[in-house]
Amino acid sequence: MKKILITGGAGFIGSHVVRHFVNKYPQYEIFNLDKLTYAGNLENLTDVEKMPNYHFVKGDIEDAEFIMNLFQKEQFDGVIHLAAESHVDRSITNPLQFIHTNVLGTVQLLHAAKTTWNGNYEGKKFYQISTDEVYGALGDTGLFSETTPYNPHSPYSAAKASADHFVRAYHDTFGMPTVISNCSNNYGPNQFPEKLIPLFINNIKHNKPLPVYGQGLNVRDWLYVEDHVEAIDLIFHQAKPGSTYNIGGNNEWRNIDLIKKLIEIMDRKLGRPEGTSLSLITYVTDRAGHDLRYAIDASKIKNELGWEPKVRFDEGFEKTVDWYLNNEEWFSHVTSGEYEEYYQKMYGNR
Ligand code: NAD
Ligand code: DAU
Repeated sequence: MKKILITGGAGFIGSHVVRHFVNKYPQYEIFNLDKLTYAGNLENLTDVEKMPNYHFVKGDIEDAEFIMNLFQKEQFDGVIHLAAESHVDRSITNPLQFIHTNVLGTVQLLHAAKTTWNGNYEGKKFYQISTDEVYGALGDTGLFSETTPYNPHSPYSAAKASADHFVRAYHDTFGMPTVISNCSNNYGPNQFPEKLIPLFINNIKHNKPLPVYGQGLNVRDWLYVEDHVEAIDLIFHQAKPGSTYNIGGNNEWRNIDLIKKLIEIMDRKLGRPEGTSLSLITYVTDRAGHDLRYAIDASKIKNELGWEPKVRFDEGFEKTVDWYLNNEEWFSHVTSGEYEEYYQKMYGNR
């Protein structure tokens, strides 16, 4: 029996991680700790909420007393830490919130784990889920490896980088068994429609303009969320304390090419003549400090843990579009209230 704390389990990637662990490891007790910010949604987990090995705890990772009490009470064996403010655009309008959640929240968890484990690290692990954005931006060539120096540009990536440094500091200073993985852009069901793919699916469906930042020439390396989850499972169980792994899809797309591919799929699925929604493309002011290109060298995780992405992009992308089109209710719930305010602020009346 293992007790595992998963933070941010009501969010996009976290909900897939929770489902995977609850179903695959009935002998584990899974605790999902989430503050349920605008990005957290328990509707993502209705299929596992009644499972006997699943527990939901509503709370804030920044709340020192609450976190310490939870760790002392439950005596977790492992922590998989995903809770974060995750959207780069929001970090540009509200950097402080990112320092609070991503930096201070992570340190509260490290402190509570260290205090509770009290030097007895046998069978324990603290796993920080991080991003490739900590490495900064690439030019037209090259890949991020685990030894690429950190060089974050946005308040989001600077806060994630800072949290990663604290995780390493707890390993190096206190001997805590920590691991970190840095992953590229995930896509798949349940992603909040502030991020490129679900936002554009929703806009195409409702014939709204598609706000392409700059010239749409930025490049991202896309990975299906379930492939990320498989990597997380392997790293959680097999990675050596103090180690880091990069995770990527080996699947680079210029934004504009990805958007045109999405339009092609959406027009077909919505029964519109081919190319109809191309007219929705609207070039808008670029994101401040917009990183040109991210791309991952995932050879370490392949060579050491035997992980490779399984889901082909054309298959995963179709599946993703189908999920959003078939989950109208989910979409309408997450795009009401605060979302409308956010949308107005970001994109005006478009
Ligand atoms: P998300 O925004 O969809 O979910 C974040 C979750 O964290 C939400 O459920 C939210 O309620 C919760 N949360 C936020 N603040 C909290 C707090 N103070 N206390 C407790 N819970 C809180 O994010 P995501 O896209 O699923 O990303 C999850 C993690 O993976 C993040 O750490 C992110 O940096 C990392 N990551 C994401 C991607 C990606 O492409 N989405 C890629 C690499 C790494
Ligand atoms: O690389 C991993 C990161 O991927 C994660 O750490 C982040 O949490 C996650 O949000 C994602 O960051 P990006 O900034 O790459 O994702 P986003 O979906 O916001 O944007 C993808 C690209 O599309 C980026 O180049 C900006 C562009 N874009 C985005 C939006 C929302 C647009 O052109 N228009 C838009 O409206």
